[in-house]
Amino acid sequence: MPIFFQHQVNETTRLGIWKIEETEEFFLSNVPLQKEVTHPHKRLQHLAGRFLLQFLFPDFPYELIKIADTRKPYLTGEKYHFSISHCGDYAAAIVSSNQRVGMDIEIPSPKVEKIKEKFLNKEEVSKFEIRNSKFETPNSELLTLFWSAKESVFKWYGNGKVDFRQHILLQKIDQGGEVINCFFVKTDQQLPIHYRSFEHLVLAWVVS
Ligand SMILES: CC(C)(COP(=O)(O)OP(=O)(O)OC[C@H]1O[C@@H](n2cnc3c(N)ncnc32)[C@H](O)[C@@H]1OP(=O)(O)O)[C@@H](O)C(=O)NCCC(=O)NCCS
Repeated sequence: MPIFFQHQVNETTRLGIWKIEETEEFFLSNVPLQKEVTHPHKRLQHLAGRFLLQFLFPDFPYELIKIADTRKPYLTGEKYHFSISHCGDYAAAIVSSNQRVGMDIEIPSPKVEKIKEKFLNKEEVSKFEIRNSKFETPNSELLTLFWSAKESVFKWYGNGKVDFRQHILLQKIDQGGEVINCFFVKTDQQLPIHYRSFEHLVLAWVVS
């Protein structure tokens, strides 16, 4: 079973990343396909994400998954809160029995350099000394991490209408603790964003 990374976040919350090496048939024998996904690889990613929910909590009730108007999936009755992300051959999920959660995975790419002003405000760009140099490879990884961090907040919030530059303010990165301090304007609160950085993948999650 190619579980790539697993983490017990706290007593009630677990997360995992799955490296997809199975066929669609494998996932379909475990997971119901509840929505139409035309592209075969996207369908595989979708199924792998759903598969992880029961992998993390075997009593996770797939049949109760609904999709909100914002497109956020949720459970009627909220037995669990959960969040899913996929990228390339990876799928990730976080599940909690009592806390809201959001997560995102991304594969670092230099393309993020070109769109950094769309999700980082001026203060963040200067604070983290993110320069516009096409030769700085680690820069792409850091920028991708910041993008992933903000996506995880967006998913945690779940109500849409979030301006990444104005509402999600990254304040400080604590590399030892693998935490980014963040202030989320929409709910007027400090929101720690946890992260992990792997060789070809970054992961960010929020639990609150
Ligand atoms: C919806 C969104 C969060 C999906 O992220 P993505 O990186 O494209 O894709 P991911 O694989 O990480 O996540 C997809 C999963 O997120 C979940 N999801 C979809 N919409 C969601 C929402 N509104 N809230 C929370 N989770 C959501 C779903 O579980 C989905 O997977 P599934 O359909 O297989 O169940 C993203 O497309 C988005 O809209 N982000 C906000 C962009 C934005 O406002 N940017 C402004 C600054 S540039």
